[in-house]
Amino acid sequence: MLAHFPAANHLLLMFPSFVFDSPLWSRTRRNMDVIMRHWLFEQYNSALEVYMRLAEMVAERLRWSTLLAGSAIATATSAAPSGFPVSGNGLWYRTPGTIWSKEWLPVGNGYLAAMTPGGTTFETTQLNIESLWSGGPFQDPTYNGGNKQPSQRAQMATDMQNIRQTIFTNGTIDNVEVLSTDPGAYGSYSGAGYLLTSLNSTSHSSNYTRWLDLDAAVARASWSSGNGTLIRTSFCSHPLQACIQHLSSAPSSTIPTITHAFSAALEDGLPTPTVTCLDNSTLQVEGLVSDPGMAYELLFRASAVGNSSRVACVPSGTGNATLTITGATEAWVTWVGDTEYNMNAGDAAHNFTFRQELPHDKLVSLLETASPSSQTPSSSTYASLLAQHTAAYTSILGPFALSLGQKPDLTSSTDELKAAYQTNIGNSYLEWLLFNFGRYLLASSAPGVLPANLQGKWADGSSNSWGSDYHSNINLQMNYWFAEMTGMSSVVVPLFNYIENTWAPRGAYTAEVLYNINQGWVTHDEMNVFGHTGMKLSGNSAEWADYPESAVWMMVHVWDHFDFSGDSQWWKSQGWPLLKGVAQFHISKLIPDEHFNDSTLVVAPCNSPEQVPITLGCAHAQQLIWQLFNAVEKGYAASGDNDEAFLSAVLSQRAQMDKGIHIGSWGQLQEWKIDMDSPNDTHRHLSHLVGLYPGYALASYNSSIQAPPHGTAYTKAEVLNATQTSLIHRGNGTGPDADSGWEKVWRAAAWAQFANSSTFYEELSYAVERNFAPSLFSMYDPFDADPIFQIDANFGYPAALLNALIQAPDVASLTSPLIVTLLPALPTTWPTGSIESARIRGGMSLDMAWADGKLTSAAISVNSSSGAVERSVEVVYQGKTVASFTASPGANFTIP
Ligand SMILES: *[C@@H]1O[C@H](CO)[C@@H](O)[C@H](O)[C@H]1NC(C)=O
Ligand SMILES: *[C@@H]1O[C@H](CO)[C@@H](O)[C@H](O)[C@H]1NC(C)=O
Ligand SMILES: *[C@@H]1O[C@H](CO)[C@@H](O)[C@H](O)[C@H]1NC(C)=O
Ligand SMILES: *[C@@H]1O[C@H](CO)[C@@H](O)[C@H](O)[C@H]1NC(C)=O
Ligand SMILES: *[C@@H]1O[C@H](CO)[C@@H](O)[C@H](O)[C@H]1NC(C)=O
Ligand SMILES: *[C@@H]1O[C@H](CO)[C@@H](O)[C@H](O)[C@H]1NC(C)=O
Ligand SMILES: *[C@@H]1O[C@H](CO)[C@@H](O)[C@H](O)[C@H]1NC(C)=O
Ligand SMILES: *[C@@H]1O[C@H](CO)[C@@H](O)[C@H](O)[C@H]1NC(C)=O
Ligand SMILES: *[C@@H]1O[C@H](CO)[C@@H](O)[C@H](O)[C@H]1NC(C)=O
Repeated sequence: MLAHFPAANHLLLMFPSFVFDSPLWSRTRRNMDVIMRHWLFEQYNSALEVYMRLAEMVAERLRWSTLLAGSAIATATSAAPSGFPVSGNGLWYRTPGTIWSKEWLPVGNGYLAAMTPGGTTFETTQLNIESLWSGGPFQDPTYNGGNKQPSQRAQMATDMQNIRQTIFTNGTIDNVEVLSTDPGAYGSYSGAGYLLTSLNSTSHSSNYTRWLDLDAAVARASWSSGNGTLIRTSFCSHPLQACIQHLSSAPSSTIPTITHAFSAALEDGLPTPTVTCLDNSTLQVEGLVSDPGMAYELLFRASAVGNSSRVACVPSGTGNATLTITGATEAWVTWVGDTEYNMNAGDAAHNFTFRQELPHDKLVSLLETASPSSQTPSSSTYASLLAQHTAAYTSILGPFALSLGQKPDLTSSTDELKAAYQTNIGNSYLEWLLFNFGRYLLASSAPGVLPANLQGKWADGSSNSWGSDYHSNINLQMNYWFAEMTGMSSVVVPLFNYIENTWAPRGAYTAEVLYNINQGWVTHDEMNVFGHTGMKLSGNSAEWADYPESAVWMMVHVWDHFDFSGDSQWWKSQGWPLLKGVAQFHISKLIPDEHFNDSTLVVAPCNSPEQVPITLGCAHAQQLIWQLFNAVEKGYAASGDNDEAFLSAVLSQRAQMDKGIHIGSWGQLQEWKIDMDSPNDTHRHLSHLVGLYPGYALASYNSSIQAPPHGTAYTKAEVLNATQTSLIHRGNGTGPDADSGWEKVWRAAAWAQFANSSTFYEELSYAVERNFAPSLFSMYDPFDADPIFQIDANFGYPAALLNALIQAPDVASLTSPLIVTLLPALPTTWPTGSIESARIRGGMSLDMAWADGKLTSAAISVNSSSGAVERSVEVVYQGKTVASFTASPGANFTIP
């Protein structure tokens, strides 16, 4: 990368060398690659300017981290802080965090998010607003979602025809670049600046600790200084759509003067906003994510307790201001924020503007609700805000509970536990904590307007790796893998709103212009918040871009939401219309296989996600489309739709289609219909095994319905054997192509599906050892000095763990029994444990316990919601059916 920039030498003269030696610089340079790929580069006059800007930013950041480190203290606490959950359900540390990606701690409510290093006299809280994105129509009014122009439709049809002909004669094609489009103003999710908090205190600090309480959903730092112990608490309340940072002392005494300021300079690439006083206790920030670009607003209101306390907003310099609090015994700042983004204006009726007026009045009223200016703040005001927050968080988590028989270790800090953790040896306490942390992160990032992105909602800098976007070829899916099973159904709904409002409307245009298809809609792998439905060009982009099955995979989540919840109102109004739109497109897109001429229907061109060759009948696509068609049949009766023509088209195509299951020359499950897999291919994705986990085309294989239209079916044993052969050859999830956490937890889940408890545990614990940071965030490149945070493994981990304890994979038809397997891959390290209120398909809920590695009790109840369908269930334990019954709404079963 650097070689392309002639300017680098100039910089070395202008900034001290520590700037370039810092991990921040290495990350910043890497982000440049992302910027380049997103073509934002033209905004700058020259490479020199870009590097100047980055170096300034790094220098500023380092100045602050030096201050931060200076405020840290040597005297460590010996055990978890008082107030830390006695169950051990939290993360704690003896020193403040330095590196954002692996040491800072997250809070969030889905709308807003923040990362805190846990500073003392200086605290730098990094802020996020969920919809703050560069790019889109805000940056470029001609932005059209990376699509072709209407005038190109006929040419595309011809090009597509030629591509298919080449594939049918030649088996593969070198590239399909002609179908893709320059991403234009694709943009990136951006950080929203920093809240800088300083205390006017020179007292020596000691007795430092910081922690994240996963029971209460608060981040805290405490340290002793001068008169007593200061404690800072941060949280983001879901009901209030506001975040709060609170400072108090014990015993109660006057706390030092607090100054809050806002900095965009620390936020890599964020332009300088206007900072003013909205009123005498409220700081207002109005800025742009880029110029031109989306506008955002943040409001910070200070509240102070104490007779002689005083709050003031003080203008400083030009376009700047600070909030100060003096003489308080307790004080807090409440902040709210929003942008011009409007997800409901992303359709033709709104000319795909995605725009609204900056909702200033709404922000003021949110602030008034959280911290009314007319009220004199008191300790009890704050206590009730906190209690309301924790109650809302607890209700998002629901009644689900897991025990792995873990014993909390309250004398080792979380980073120490993580550092001591080893593959296969493990630590059930840390494993349990990671499970709960995944649930905390989903509860804190998913229930906003937009779904959780590649980093949940936590991203630092204005240009993030992969745009911190919605990669929907495994990553977005993995984010939600465990949600239904652990009863977090409510947080999934924003995901469906996002698909409905940003994918479907422009996806219908893409279907027409790119595929010459007049019904339904399509999108591809990489998605921003502006309906980027075209194929995103970057080099020979087929590996990434040629993925019209992304929405097919997402429809698994749509179907599952109905299957788990039985919510037929939702199904009629949102679930079914989504599923139907995707299925309509794919019944028009499947074509007769003119390569094998075997009378089947296939997709072409296709490739496995992020993996060439470009060919026909890719296993991944065929399996997913088959599952989609099954969901259409299963959900038709409940949909209220009477479009029989659509249903029969789906059923007839399903009968004719290639099911994506072929066993190849070395006993493998073929990734492509042509047998050309390499036994040495350790690619990160398990694309062709999607039907093993999280899908069911392989896991619930049924030879009578998955036989080729004209030919002999494999037996289930043959299919699973081939699947396992492919899984073995795919390696352990560290390969020449990547070393991410998500590929390992996917493998762990797959091994659990084979009831192989030792390989499951080896892979799961390997992921923990290798890819999780001291903050327990999952790392894309764990050995980098300042690694990239990618949240998917945090979310894939709980799902993989659960897959060792309970399996109830979907089935093609509601007339096939649902097989519920208890403790299918229980590793020896969790001899004792229990699960309460795990949810399974058919609106069922499961409680169970085990001891000495043996099941001791289990009970299933079926919720009484009217939408839950009657179905036959078989419960299997240790290879034997231990119960079978017909599940009907309201029924309860004790097993055995
Ligand atoms: C250390 O901090 C804790 C709070 O985490 C407090 O309870 C304790 O009194 C402090 N100890 C000293 C010696 O200041
Ligand atoms: C819609 O947006 C396009 C640019 O994408 C613009 O050319 C056109 O004038 C807009 N139409 C309306 C009605 O605003
Ligand atoms: C035909 O396939 C071969 C690989 O089997 C490939 O090298 C060649 O480039 C392909 N031809 C075209 C036109 O894509
Ligand atoms: C900080 O405190 C010192 C001494 O208490 C005082 O002189 C100074 O003005 C204060 N600074 C600010 C910014 O409040
Ligand atoms: C200690 O208390 C005094 C008086 O209440 C106050 O002025 C001072 O800021 C406090 N110092 C610290 C470090 O809390
Ligand atoms: C506003 O003041 C804060 C605190 O002094 C500073 O960090 C920030 O960079 C200032 N902003 C501008 C635009 O000067
Ligand atoms: C703050 O402003 C309000 C009106 O906005 C006013 O009533 C109040 O007196 C002011 N307080 C101070 C301390 O200036
Ligand atoms: C499983 O596959 C291997 C390798 O292809 C083969 O040797 C073995 O016989 C197969 N086993 C079964 C039960 O099909
Ligand atoms: C796979 O790797 C082995 C060992 O590196 C090598 O001998 C073999 O030729 C490779 N096979 C293929 C099909 O690439």
